[in-house]
Amino acid sequence: MRLEGDMTVKRVLIPVVCFFAAVFMLMNAASAENFKSLRGQADLEETNAAASINQVIEGGRFSQNYRQQPPLIPHKIEKYQINLKVNQCMRCHNWQYAAKEGAPKISETHYLDHRTGKPLDDVVPGRWFCTQCHVPQVDAKPLVENTFTK
Ligand code: HEC
Ligand code: HEC
Repeated sequence: MRLEGDMTVKRVLIPVVCFFAAVFMLMNAASAENFKSLRGQADLEETNAAASINQVIEGGRFSQNYRQQPPLIPHKIEKYQINLKVNQCMRCHNWQYAAKEGAPKISETHYLDHRTGKPLDDVVPGRWFCTQCHVPQVDAKPLVENTFTK
């Protein structure tokens, strides 16, 4: 019995394994040539040099590219935390602090309850995570081509 089992392994299993190994090697060879990732043509184990840190464009206001565009942020934001409990953007942009900080107040739309349409006293949950819509800009070469038109 044992002998028969061994024969099956030799006759069936080994050719099957060899076949799949060959297919796998061929696929690998083909994809290695065509595959270009954003991190460049580097082996898996290789560590690329760190990407350059681009300066955030600061000061003034950005012009809008289309009418409904959320205004772009003209300052750095990495120190301002936004989580479930805290939103540090609001210590300058909420109505109580805006004038004192010289910051534009979040617009009235940010206080409107989405379901009832009624204005609330604080920013509504749907506008809590500011960076879903507002982003700062850096002076950098685009990673991918952008064909956006108005
Ligand atoms: C320390 C105060 C302060 C904090 C905190 C702050 N901002 Fe600002 N923000 C400003 C000021 C001041 C301006 C106006 C800049 C100018 O006119 O040069 C501004 C401008 C902006 C604008 C441009 C508005 C427009 O109409 O062009 C956006 C958008 C904005 N901030 C979003 C944010 C977001 C999002 C956060 C949190 C991640 C944040 N800000 C945190 C002070 C602040
Ligand atoms: C769902 C997208 C969205 C979110 C989230 C959002 N905003 Fe806005 N924001 C906009 C749009 C769109 C405008 C311009 C039209 C308007 O006023 O509603 C705007 C306008 C602004 C302005 C300019 C107001 C003015 O009068 O010039 C400021 C400042 C601002 N947002 C800050 C914030 C801050 C701070 C947060 C987080 C608490 C936030 N926004 C969250 C979409 C968003």
